[in-house]
Amino acid sequence: MSLIGVAKSYGDVEVLRPFDLQVAEGEFVVLLGPSGCGKSTILKMIAGLEEATHGEIHVAGDLVNYVRPRDRNVAMVFQNYALYPHMTVRENIAFPLRMSRRPRLRRSTIDGRTLEAAEIVDLTQYLDRKPAQLSGGQRQRVALARAIIRQPAVFLMDEPLSNLDALLRADMRTSLLDVHSRIRKATLYVTHDQIEAMTMADRVVVLNDGRIQQVGEPHELYTAPANTFVAQFIGSPRMSLHPTSAGPDGLFRFGGASLVIDEDIAADPAAAMTVGVRPSALRVTDAGDACLAGRVRRRDYLGSDSYLEVQLSDGSSVMVRTDADSPLESGDDVHVDAEPGAFHLFDEAGDRVCSASARSRER
Ligand SMILES: Nc1ncnc2c1ncn2[C@@H]1O[C@H](COP(=O)(O)OP(=O)(O)OP(=O)(O)O)[C@@H](O)[C@H]1O
Ligand SMILES: [Mg+2]
Repeated sequence: MSLIGVAKSYGDVEVLRPFDLQVAEGEFVVLLGPSGCGKSTILKMIAGLEEATHGEIHVAGDLVNYVRPRDRNVAMVFQNYALYPHMTVRENIAFPLRMSRRPRLRRSTIDGRTLEAAEIVDLTQYLDRKPAQLSGGQRQRVALARAIIRQPAVFLMDEPLSNLDALLRADMRTSLLDVHSRIRKATLYVTHDQIEAMTMADRVVVLNDGRIQQVGEPHELYTAPANTFVAQFIGSPRMSLHPTSAGPDGLFRFGGASLVIDEDIAADPAAAMTVGVRPSALRVTDAGDACLAGRVRRRDYLGSDSYLEVQLSDGSSVMVRTDADSPLESGDDVHVDAEPGAFHLFDEAGDRVCSASARSRER
């Protein structure tokens, strides 16, 4: 599937700037962004529920801008899966095939494909139940089966798991990926949950305010975010960001440390930059190994780790990941070391320029 120069406006309001997007056969692409950024609008344009203001939409090689929604060879799964309450699971799953006029299918074909779809989503023992007799996760699987049975070229999923509780959502992520690996169709999956995006996607498209911010594999987004928006949207707790400028030696400063740029890029020492560092790139250490020093202001205990908010000597603060059972508490003095390349420098527009390593702590 490919979108070329697609844009969307409602009257004068431009909700999506022109963008290109490709999803290869068998690829699982996640559209990630905050509420209102335009995620659902992209899916609706592909499904034909909204018209694209500009650009071309191709599904399985065909230009579909002027094709009716039901002839587009796509199937959409929504957050509100809207099953028919008076029909059994079997009837709900079969519904799209019973409604399709072209081609008119034989009863035995419909039954066979219903069973096949139910097997893929592991619902065969529930076929005679009504939706009210199912759990939320089972109902969501019925909705998925109803999309699978249409055998579309492209699956579009709009926050399909967000009605489920956290535990079930984690289970359903796994079963959705199992289903995907069995049917291997192009899938565009919308979420505002970065964990869902990072765990499920082959590639993630980060969207903010109607513009694509970055397209990349999860690892790439985490280690080399294109700008401050992506840097803070991906990763929890968030990357700490602070303004910085270069000293007389041409090195940027952060929390009392001097930063040496790793890459072969000259960051303009006269520029006002922003420096960012992830909690996972910092660790508590002895005074001798440290590049930063400060005082613990808060400790968040998460069971597997703890996160310390550390106020540095220059007044800025960072989050530092540490052992869950670390004895450090609010008010304690700490020394902190950073991994090589732990620091990211962003220019005035917020775009990432390069990574940097701390040289030493100035005493
Ligand atoms: N019919 C419409 N007329 C005018 N503006 C609209 C219309 N439909 C959507 N919008 C605007 O388009 C923008 C994108 O909406 P969209 O539903 O795509 O967001 P989203 O990323 O799916 O958000 P959410 O995560 O809350 O579902 C929003 O600012 C919304 O207010
Ligand atoms: Mg939406």
